[in-house]
Amino acid sequence: MLNNKLYIKTWGCQMNEYDSSKIADLMQKELNCKITDSIENANIIILNTCSIREKAQEKLFHQLGRWKKFKKLDPNIIIGVGGCVAAQEGKRILNRANHVDIIFGPQTLHRIPMMINKVRKFKKYLIDISFPKIEKFNYFPLPQKKNISEFISIIEGCNKYCTYCIVPYTRGKEISRPYQDIISEIKILSMQGVREVHLLGQNVNAYKYVDLQGKIYSFSVLLKMISKIKNIKRIRFTTSHPQNFSDELIETYKKLPQLVSFVHLPVQSGSNKILSLMKRRYNIIEYKNIINKLKNIRPNIQISSDFIVGFPGETKNDFYKTISLILDINFDMSFSFIYSPRPGTPASRLNNNNISEYEKKQRLYILQYYIKQQTKKFSKKMLNTIQTILVEGISPQNKQFFYGRTENNRVVFFQNKYNYIGKLVNIKITAFYLYSLHGKFISISNN
Ligand code: SAH
Ligand code: SF4
Ligand code: F3S
Repeated sequence: MLNNKLYIKTWGCQMNEYDSSKIADLMQKELNCKITDSIENANIIILNTCSIREKAQEKLFHQLGRWKKFKKLDPNIIIGVGGCVAAQEGKRILNRANHVDIIFGPQTLHRIPMMINKVRKFKKYLIDISFPKIEKFNYFPLPQKKNISEFISIIEGCNKYCTYCIVPYTRGKEISRPYQDIISEIKILSMQGVREVHLLGQNVNAYKYVDLQGKIYSFSVLLKMISKIKNIKRIRFTTSHPQNFSDELIETYKKLPQLVSFVHLPVQSGSNKILSLMKRRYNIIEYKNIINKLKNIRPNIQISSDFIVGFPGETKNDFYKTISLILDINFDMSFSFIYSPRPGTPASRLNNNNISEYEKKQRLYILQYYIKQQTKKFSKKMLNTIQTILVEGISPQNKQFFYGRTENNRVVFFQNKYNYIGKLVNIKITAFYLYSLHGKFISISNN
């Protein structure tokens, strides 16, 4: 068998990260691949792409251009392109980069080993960007713990079709994985030492699995089942959609201490007019109601969000409604972006010239300034408090320090005589930075 060495580069969201790690597992099993960090040593090179914002195509062709030399040096090298740009562009990629051998989509990555074998045999490129129904999970090898906290994809695709977004076109329809598969994946990981699971989906809380008898398993039911798995101490999930943040889900915060007191719930804009143009399917009152109900159950719960500024038709007044919402909700963190027209989406046909580029950049700057102040304020408030963190490992930068995460996702560094990796420990916070903290070990937590 060929001595295969695989190099993977990943752009985009956590779902793409998850997919890439599954590609690596699969290639090790099927093609006896070793994974390498050095592209010069690789004979299989894979790029897992993202097309959520600007210049995704340009970025891809630049990268492929830089990789052409490897193919020239060794024509037997396989170059594969996957992910959301691949799903969008398909065969067109070959027009500008004919040194690519395989093109696959987010739902066909399990076919890569077979595609590589065929390309090697027939010396011809292969394209498969189809959307087979949630087939890929059946092909992944048994999960292998890599970290104390592991991602688990539970629902694929998206049916929401927000007017600006490319995801429903690249990732396909919303399909939930059978709950039994998710539970057994988590049980295996827990036996290997995983202590935190991070459930993933473009709309993770839209999870709904209907079994053969017609019984419905909602996201809340799935969370309850996961909370019963031995040694799973923490549960996180991203990304939630406000429309699917049901009362049933809010109630589970009462019952499941494993659910962290931190929710990423993207609102996108503080203006009802813009939300409606975006087809987000909720208004600001409804959004605030969710947050209020959550805060009633967990007064200390912290909220993060995504924002888009400069959406077509966004006036200064709309923008200030977003700023006012930021102050009102007191978001802890955010990911914020200037609107980028995505080819083929309804919003890309709206007039996008009403706001100058300068104005858009200014709005982003102002929004990020406010959020940063709030992030700092939350971090500062943590000073001298005792925080429970899940210890994840030894700091790669300074081996004398362990690190772990607080519920609100801040990394804490601390020193200790004993190795408590995988345990929840209480740490007194002694210093704070924007996204990280330093602390002193106090005790092992009883939770
Ligand atoms: N499913 C999630 C978001 C997934 S995409 C949700 O609905 O909240 C991640 C983020 O990228 C979005 O929340 C949005 O803020 C941003 N985004 C998506 N399309 C964009 C576009 N065309 N221009 C700018 N930002 C965009
Ligand atoms: Fe995109 Fe909207 Fe789906 Fe989120 S909910 S992935 S923003 S279409
Ligand atoms: Fe990007 Fe596709 Fe994720 S567009 S954000 S890689 S779903």
